Amino acid sequence: MSVNVAVVGATGAVGDLMRRVLAERHFPVKTIKFLASEKSAGKTVEFAGKSYPVEPIRPEAFAGVQIVLSSTPSSVSKEYSPVAARAGAIVVDNSSAWRMDPDCPLVVPEVNADQLHHIKKGIVANPNCVAIPLCVALKPLHDLGTIKRIVVSTYQSSSGKGAKGLADFEAQLKAWAGGGPVPAPTAHRAQLAGNIVTLDWTLDPNGYTEEENKVINETRKILGDATIGVSPTCVRVPVKVAHCESINVEFHRPVSVAAAKAALATAPGVVLLDETKGEFPQPIHAEGSDHTFVGRVRQDPSHPNALSLWVVADNLRKGAASNAVQCAEELVKRGIVK
Ligand SMILES: NC(=O)c1ccc[n+]([C@@H]2O[C@H](COP(=O)([O-])OP(=O)(O)OC[C@H]3O[C@@H](n4cnc5c(N)ncnc54)[C@H](OP(=O)(O)O)[C@@H]3O)[C@@H](O)[C@H]2O)c1
Repeated sequence: MSVNVAVVGATGAVGDLMRRVLAERHFPVKTIKFLASEKSAGKTVEFAGKSYPVEPIRPEAFAGVQIVLSSTPSSVSKEYSPVAARAGAIVVDNSSAWRMDPDCPLVVPEVNADQLHHIKKGIVANPNCVAIPLCVALKPLHDLGTIKRIVVSTYQSSSGKGAKGLADFEAQLKAWAGGGPVPAPTAHRAQLAGNIVTLDWTLDPNGYTEEENKVINETRKILGDATIGVSPTCVRVPVKVAHCESINVEFHRPVSVAAAKAALATAPGVVLLDETKGEFPQPIHAEGSDHTFVGRVRQDPSHPNALSLWVVADNLRKGAASNAVQCAEELVKRGIVK
């Protein structure tokens, strides 16, 4: 069967990838339309070798649409995803607006695709770009030893801040590499070229950023265990695309490095790299891939039940667009969208 699709936020960093991923994965499209804000009306976008007009988002635009792939700011998703759902579509929403809503499944297909059978509001939430690869890498290990606690430090790329974040970083990098004065940041919290910065200056009463709280709450929801302890530190690094994560994971029982590597070697969506062959997951290799790259799997010398590992994934693809398209594929495959 083929499906009537709308891509919302089609002009953004994730929306751009959404078009490419739909075409690459040969998603069964019957009709497709591309929506964005009023300011993009009149622009055109390419899809599968054809040019399409960008339409301004309006309630009428969702008539007859079966699947909406939405990547807009959270405030826009809050307003329009329910409108699309009321018009009969299932929305796969990339924003943070619906992720912790108990009536919206938060889905990473390799981990909890079965949750797609529990869509109560017509909205499936696509998780945060750190939580997705974290859960892809940790689910096979959770199955082995049951996770008790995760300590994760993230190294997040400039494109995590969207098209504006990428443009800001590229302008800064050009000036910095040329030895000239670096322009004031327009999207990031401070100069990113040659530097590492926080994602946010706003902290909760415990000293955690919004991103760090997303990682805590979403990881528990995806893995289906609210008792898992999660301690994150999230920073922005001077990289174009792909987020890295240094993970220390403690289990309720010992998990050997050999057993962890054997599980990761066959886990869906994971590419396990072998450090003994000089392989190390890197952003420049992960960029453009839908896989989650895992390496440096090792015993924590300070705890008998803990392992450490290094994980890298393309934040615009597996962290956003590809995960959403995979959800859409599952909706069709499972007969949820007919
Ligand atoms: N970047 C990442 O790594 C990543 C990963 C996971 C999730 N996400 C989430 O995905 C969403 C999009 O992120 P992004 O990085 O692609 O951002 P972006 O590059 O800034 O793109 C935002 C998109 O939303 C559209 N939009 C903005 N205001 C709108 C409005 N009032 N009505 C209709 N459309 C509107 C924009 O259209 P115009 O061009 O017309 O303004 C653009 O197409 C965000 O919620 C973000 O948190 C991002």
